[in-house]
Amino acid sequence: MTLRDIGAQSARIGLLAVASTMRGTRTSELDWCHGRSLWAAMGGYSNHQSASDTARELFTLLIGYIEDLMIPFNVPPVVGTELSFIQTAIGSGKLCGDGSFTQRCQQWLEQRFGSAKVLLTPSCTASLEMAAILLNIHPGDEVIMPSYTFASTANAFVLRGATIVFVDIRPDTLNIDETLIEAAITPNTRSIVPVHYAGVACEMDTIMAIAKQHRLWVVEDAAQGVMATYKGRALGTLGHIGCFSFHETKNYTSGGEGGAILINNAAFIEQAEIIREKGTNRSQFFRKKVDKYTWYDIGSSYLMADLQAAYLWAQLEAAETINLRRLTLWNRYYVSLAQQDSLAVPVLPDTCQHNSHMFYLKLSDINDRNSFIRYMKSVDILTVFHYIPLHSSPAGQRFGRFHGSDRYTSRESQRLVRLPLFYNLKDSDQQRVIDAICGYYI
Ligand SMILES: Cc1ncc(COP(=O)(O)O)c(C=O)c1O
Repeated sequence: MTLRDIGAQSARIGLLAVASTMRGTRTSELDWCHGRSLWAAMGGYSNHQSASDTARELFTLLIGYIEDLMIPFNVPPVVGTELSFIQTAIGSGKLCGDGSFTQRCQQWLEQRFGSAKVLLTPSCTASLEMAAILLNIHPGDEVIMPSYTFASTANAFVLRGATIVFVDIRPDTLNIDETLIEAAITPNTRSIVPVHYAGVACEMDTIMAIAKQHRLWVVEDAAQGVMATYKGRALGTLGHIGCFSFHETKNYTSGGEGGAILINNAAFIEQAEIIREKGTNRSQFFRKKVDKYTWYDIGSSYLMADLQAAYLWAQLEAAETINLRRLTLWNRYYVSLAQQDSLAVPVLPDTCQHNSHMFYLKLSDINDRNSFIRYMKSVDILTVFHYIPLHSSPAGQRFGRFHGSDRYTSRESQRLVRLPLFYNLKDSDQQRVIDAICGYYI
């Protein structure tokens, strides 16, 4: 009999039994470990001097079994060339921001997507903060956005003293409902922040027309939108400013954390460079445009280290491959699960080419969704819910208000669950996820 034959539960019991034979091993520690952390923990225990050879062998088998068994929700993408670029960066003698890998990445992003200026930043959060400073957001200003988003979307503007005005989402794409924006505008409104959920575009033509009519700035939160388009144009380049994330949960990463700000309105470029360089005109000094640099305005340290840009360069070089692999995985989920009556799958408007950032299902309600997550966990597959609407959070209540009624934001958030989808996900593991879901609904 192989370990696979005995099933997950028995394997765990066996694991704990073996563990208990080893000095200094506490079952609670083992119980706490899951997946990769379990693998690492076992690696440590198997080197333990007091472990018997038999126990060590059993451990090796169990390690392989469990590593094989657990399907995580996300693993950061690795294409294989990252280390060699990082080595080159180390050899260059310049690791801080705006080194040669930063320049390469910025140029690639500008050319590929068509933005006047792209600057790498430490995170999408930092990019959003830069945007709020650039737009000179002040106490008393109002900023319109969906409540179904990450805290940073709102926090960046609250840091400048703005009040957040939340507007309901559309039930199909879970993006801000563009038809509700105009009614939320007041004389204090300064900006609209559409969030392209799951890399599926908001209805940008309507949003830009409203912004033009009311003289508002549009900051796209395209944290999840790298390589996705709306009517053939790249997300992040449609508003006055766009913000990307290169966090490890996104399609492309700069080694864990990272982001970029896309300055689509050329009038903002010089000021953006100053804000990013601690409020100084150091960028101009480096370009030899001025012979000394000095403090010009408020700003902060919003540069990405070149070591991280080296990691990102590996991913951008392989952007097409990563995108295609993710699309293949997304399509397989779609084809396999779209027929299930009890589930709703993502809706893609004709105007949008998405980037397969996420595959989610919508179940009937929160109880149904939570039972599903528990079941998937019992078969060693990690599926997760997503944003808790900001207007229901303590900070959201303090710094914002919901305009109109919450018809869809809370309801859709409560019934949504995300499936494992990452570049290095194996076909066989994805099949296990699909089989588990189909099995649940038989
Ligand atoms: C919509 C949205 N905006 C902003 C962020 C923040 O991105 P970062 O982690 O790069 O700061 C996230 C993170 O997941 C996000 O989902």
